[in-house]
Amino acid sequence: MEEVIKIEGGHSLRGTVRISGSKNATVALIPAAILGHGPVTICGVPNISDVESLSVLLKELDVEVVRKGEDILIIDPSHMSNKAMVQETVGKLRASYYFMGALLGKYGHVEMKMPGGCYLGPRPIDLHLKGFEALGATIQYEHGAYIIEANELVGTKIFLDIASVGATINIMMAAVYAKGRTTIENAAKEPEIIDVATLLNKMGAKIRGVGTNLITIDGVDRLDGCFHEIIPDRIEAATYLVLGAAAAEAVTVENIIPQHLESLISKLDEIGILMEIGIDYVKMLGRKEQLKAVDVQTLPYPGFATDIQQPLTALLTQAQGQSIVTETIYKERFKHCHELNKMGANINVMPPSAMINGGTPLAGCEVTATDLRCGACLVIAGLLAEGITTIREIYHIDRGYDNLDGKLTALGAKIWREQID
Ligand code: EPU
Repeated sequence: MEEVIKIEGGHSLRGTVRISGSKNATVALIPAAILGHGPVTICGVPNISDVESLSVLLKELDVEVVRKGEDILIIDPSHMSNKAMVQETVGKLRASYYFMGALLGKYGHVEMKMPGGCYLGPRPIDLHLKGFEALGATIQYEHGAYIIEANELVGTKIFLDIASVGATINIMMAAVYAKGRTTIENAAKEPEIIDVATLLNKMGAKIRGVGTNLITIDGVDRLDGCFHEIIPDRIEAATYLVLGAAAAEAVTVENIIPQHLESLISKLDEIGILMEIGIDYVKMLGRKEQLKAVDVQTLPYPGFATDIQQPLTALLTQAQGQSIVTETIYKERFKHCHELNKMGANINVMPPSAMINGGTPLAGCEVTATDLRCGACLVIAGLLAEGITTIREIYHIDRGYDNLDGKLTALGAKIWREQID
């Protein structure tokens, strides 16, 4: 038996949707919280399976985790112990790798098997490991697990060949207790990195320059607990903006930071979507006339996010003319295009680009969520399609979207879950 999502397309959406706390910030904040010696209270935690997986990993390290109310997580590492992280859960998500930086920083020793996550083409962690080595750690790979250790971590200059989100955060976590000053040059600038540094600074770290490509970390002796509220999820917000653009009569996406979404908002404007931009909301007001094809190139923040290109592709199947989407982050992140073609889209994939010949009607059929954002793309396509779309392998969607069915149902969508053989 497998649980699937079914969507009956063609219903227009109306109402207000509230965006949850950022998944990609949360999955780094939770491991960061173990760096201190007292309880960290995190507010705005989304209800997604990645958080459940990380909670399992915390408990196995003897960290106390309490979920309070709808969105509060209290993480108390006061009695934690450093154990090998080789269990199956590590392979369920990519963000397990943040325990590498956190445990190395706190204990000078970590043993962990390779983390999992969405397959988007090769996703090496060489830059994370090079950063740990530069701080003084040695790395061995034995029996399927990394053993990373250091007698002492010493601050140094680290230049990242690629502005990697994961490497920037992981090195920042490993360096908070390092002796002296660490600088990360060509650091990634994504808002989630700022959120993690904000938490660490509240705990007592001395991190400067986040949000620029030069981050400075001055090592400290002790970190304690604190209270932190997570930033809104810009990718979840983007998903609702795109589906609002695709299927809404009038939808307001609230509890967002519109500045985090500028590259998408300007693309939606170019496509012909009318919007009102508020301080913490965007209201979709309909469309100018026919949707226009556009070209998109994914880039590190503040460029167009790779995580948004998959949902946007569903909308571009309805734009007049040819749109070209070029991936510069994950050159093989196009599996969603093959699924869209099953529904009637006309997309030629020639990595690193996809040529979307828009204006073709979509028809519901059985498709597979091959990864998280492919799932989001197929939900949007299902809302647009005539008839019923069945989405398989929805555990990918549940890893990252808080109450997707509930939020869409409240907007007037016809979406439900079923068990199939
Ligand atoms: N890279 C390397 N070596 C490394 C690290 C990265 O070559 O050691 C390459 C990657 O292969 C990729 C590029 O650098 O081509 C950028 O990867 P990055 O490290 O920035 O990605 P990540 O940290 O693994 C996070 C998000 C992804 C998002 C990317 C890019 C989390 C848990 N994941 O991944 O989110 O696509 O940044 O913005 O924060 C998603 O939410 O669906 C998702 C996949």
